[in-house]
Amino acid sequence: MTASLTVLGLETSCDETAAAVVRLDADGHVTVLSSIVGTQIADHAPYGGVVPEIAARAHVETIDAITAEALKTAGLSYGELSGVAATAGPGLVGGVMVGLSFGKAVALARGLPLVAVNHLEGHAVSARLAADIPYPFLLLLVSGGHCQLLEVAGVGACRRLGTTIDDAAGEAFDKIAKTLGLPYPGGPALEELAVGGDASAFTLPRALLGRDGFDFSFSGLKTAAARLAETVTDEPARKNLAAAVQAAIARQLAERTDRAMVAYARRHEGRSLRFVVAGGVAANGAVRAKLKETAEAQGFSFDAPPLAYCTDNAAMIALAGAERLALGISDPLDAPARPRWPLDAAAALANPIHVHGRKGAKA
Ligand code: KG4
Ligand code: ZN
Repeated sequence: MTASLTVLGLETSCDETAAAVVRLDADGHVTVLSSIVGTQIADHAPYGGVVPEIAARAHVETIDAITAEALKTAGLSYGELSGVAATAGPGLVGGVMVGLSFGKAVALARGLPLVAVNHLEGHAVSARLAADIPYPFLLLLVSGGHCQLLEVAGVGACRRLGTTIDDAAGEAFDKIAKTLGLPYPGGPALEELAVGGDASAFTLPRALLGRDGFDFSFSGLKTAAARLAETVTDEPARKNLAAAVQAAIARQLAERTDRAMVAYARRHEGRSLRFVVAGGVAANGAVRAKLKETAEAQGFSFDAPPLAYCTDNAAMIALAGAERLALGISDPLDAPARPRWPLDAAAALANPIHVHGRKGAKA
């Protein structure tokens, strides 16, 4: 590895416009020099979800100022950077094009290498922003668009073990929260409502329990919760339902992860067993606690990124870019924006159910 690398990261694939500067030292030590996230929540809230056209316009309007703030906070100028890393997909293509084009312009103007980063690879390395977690590790990536178990062997070397056959976990949180009348984004709102609720007050379906493989399914839970939401009127019952939904999602994530851990441990006999959970849903306390318990029971170490790096941010994109640059990997300036871009393309193609679904190729 060369001397230390200082990389500007750009993230615009959904509803956060983010820029960050991250330094990766030759010994692998990571320093986040700045991480600025401009959220568009207020722009989308009236519509109850992300509106792609509004998102793209908001990225265009703010990326300049957010990047300037990231450099200022880091105390650096463009001339002191070693490279630029921009999310090139998967995500809303209008937004991806904004960040990627901005990154290309910076790279061209400053003669810097460009790395077109897969957003999921960003989430995959996000826990490494704050802790020294060597490869390989078992990863549960749970966000608004994705829910998958991956074996991460090294930079860009991910093997997908399982994915959702319908909704992503964050999507389930968001949709169920909506039926409970909670504001967007639903996950954090549902977690707040669940505080003090009694999860045992409702029985919810346990999809895929004991079933072979490592896939997930949340549609049955979503339907059952929507039906129950119509029957609850008082606040204590709403709190109980929120707690039951949260527990049911956490339980399924833990059950499927538990199975993957057994298989992973068999393949990695005699080696350190590491488990990482990442993505927006990893910010959920109940989900974290349940997965930590599962990891401990299976003899795995447990890591989750600090909350600020669970949800979308550009520090994780900068680090994913820096790790590639350290290996001499960069991309041409005509690198395309890819609205669909599975991390493990081979697994996605081998199992068409995961390719043609609405969230398929992404999930
Ligand atoms: O990683 P992320 O910011 O964006 C994607 O790449 O999808 O994840 C956003 C998702 C949303 O579905 C949001 O509701 C969920 O993560 N989320 C949570 C929590 N914080 C964010 N879900 C449950 N509990 C939370 N505390
Ligand atoms: Zn994300």
